[in-house]
Amino acid sequence: MQSPKPLVVILATGGTIAGTASTATDTTGYRAGAVGVDALIAGVPALADHRLEAESVAAIDSKDMDAATWQRLAGRVAYHAARPEVAGVVITHGTDTLEETAYFLHRVLAPAKPVVLTAAMRPASSLSADGPANLLDAVTVAEMAGARGVSVVFAGAAWGAIGLRKIHTLQTSAFAGSDCGPIARLEGGVIRTFRPWPEAAQALGLARIAAAPDTWPRVEIVMNHAGADGRLVDAAVAAGAAGLVVAGTGFGTVSARLEAAIARAREAGVRVARASRCAFGPVLPHGAADHEAAGELSAMQARVELQLALLAQA
Ligand code: SIN
Repeated sequence: MQSPKPLVVILATGGTIAGTASTATDTTGYRAGAVGVDALIAGVPALADHRLEAESVAAIDSKDMDAATWQRLAGRVAYHAARPEVAGVVITHGTDTLEETAYFLHRVLAPAKPVVLTAAMRPASSLSADGPANLLDAVTVAEMAGARGVSVVFAGAAWGAIGLRKIHTLQTSAFAGSDCGPIARLEGGVIRTFRPWPEAAQALGLARIAAAPDTWPRVEIVMNHAGADGRLVDAAVAAGAAGLVVAGTGFGTVSARLEAAIARAREAGVRVARASRCAFGPVLPHGAADHEAAGELSAMQARVELQLALLAQA
């Protein structure tokens, strides 16, 4: 007799994976988050013999992801991950801010069990929906003995949160990660693991994000570009920004005028992180005393990191 499958909890937040369009060929003009989580699971016949529990945390287009939803989601993930009978948690999400939510959960929870985010580029109603295979793969990882930490399973690959980026507006292979490549690949339900799963260490904990979401420190992203003059930095500071992430050119450089505006912001007590507007590659520290460099984090992930750091001082 086969032993029963491990129990996996699926938390739905919305996104295209739960989207419906008026025609089966429309892959852009759809309503994200319209399909309930039970219907989403029922749409994957191969999940019928898995042990699943499902819960809806939100039903949003992830372009609208916000601190309140993150707070709620982190609480539900922590709750289910602490249940001894639960092997892992899967989160269905939109692709647009997936990398931010994944990094947020990685830093806040750093769970010992697998917490697997997944999504889709084509709505559930599409002729060629990619969500069902992604959801099945995500459950497979969440059930896997030895998997742990926050990962993103998409288009046959499992990525760690750090440095993950959405890299395409339409294609179903929409994500790429850091220079190290994916943690694992999934082919026909078989997992080939190349690197260790993310460490369950140094979690900031739910206490770090307990403050009312509308009081979380304001952190803005500004970009260096031809003609960048720093006025947006001054405006952000005037609007109450406590932190700024600069998406610099190349390895994180900024124009002289933007640099001057950043120096004024720092004088005013604003914390600054330096990321890059390049698609790939880290921003490395300039010397041991440089604590600004975002490393492998995208500008959006550096924004999450800075907000979490500032929450410690709030
Ligand atoms: C979203 O991010 O919720 C919409 C886009 C997508 O899921 O691909």
